[in-house]
Amino acid sequence: MKHLLKLADLSTEEIYGILNLADQLKYERKNNIPHPHLQGKKLGMIFSKSSTRTRVSFEVGMYELGGYALFLSDRDLQIGRGEPIKDTIRVLSRYLDGIMIRTFAQQDVEDLAKYGSIPIINGLTDYCHPCQVLADLMTIREYKGSLKGLKLCFVGDGNNMANSLIVGGIKVGMEVAIACPDNYRPDEQIVRWAKENGTLTVTSDLKGAAANADVLYTDVWASMGQESEKAVREKAFARYCIDAELMKVAKPDAMVLHCLPAHRGEEITEEVLEAHAEEIFDEAENRLHAQKAVLVKLLK
Ligand code: CP
Ligand code: NVA
Repeated sequence: MKHLLKLADLSTEEIYGILNLADQLKYERKNNIPHPHLQGKKLGMIFSKSSTRTRVSFEVGMYELGGYALFLSDRDLQIGRGEPIKDTIRVLSRYLDGIMIRTFAQQDVEDLAKYGSIPIINGLTDYCHPCQVLADLMTIREYKGSLKGLKLCFVGDGNNMANSLIVGGIKVGMEVAIACPDNYRPDEQIVRWAKENGTLTVTSDLKGAAANADVLYTDVWASMGQESEKAVREKAFARYCIDAELMKVAKPDAMVLHCLPAHRGEEITEEVLEAHAEEIFDEAENRLHAQKAVLVKLLK
């Protein structure tokens, strides 16, 4: 494993390797056992979009591993004034030991890996969000004991979250169901791959998708960069909400996860979110542990 550009690039063994190391790092942190695997290493964090969890968990994660993280906003970098990404990365490769980037186009992340000579980590693109799903799988395993055979239902936009949940879920042997409007389906290539390699349903039948689910998952109706589509999306997604009614068709002990930030009263009700707050905030905490594991695997 040289980069984390998307989950499709990882084998099932590599995914479990990250989850196991994440569990160990979480244990060590809880018990104040130092784990300075990245002493002296430097991570650049390029952000072209907002972030709370990704930014803070990567920065704190590097600190706890004995390394250093630099926050690089594209508003301040010359990228924002048009310097090509292939030049930027050849320069940054001379100063840094790794890059985490949050941006729009997946191609930009792939180009960093192509032209640079240091590990690249995808901190979210319009196409996928691999770090989030590693933390999600870690959280599901904590609560359910194992992953294989569980049913995961995602409710909402066939976006970056849906794409990564499909790939991650199928790779660990989960059954995945996506409930979305017809015009907002996940990436067709990912859907094809998933159907060839496991059990995936993509449907506009919300209750059918959620039936007997072990995990219900949702995300905002309008993602970062889609602000101008807000009104259209509010109409299209109006019934795509995890509420008490939908919870009734899932397994009685079903978990609810949300990558956050959440819009209460849209994709999830206040009532459901607060009833499952423990799981959802454990999930957010696990970003730290899962990403520390990724950093150790790539930078050590
Ligand atoms: N879930 C997630 O990636 O959160 P941020 O946008 O706050 O980083
Ligand atoms: N789909 C959301 C995820 C945020 C973590 C977005 O891209 O804005």
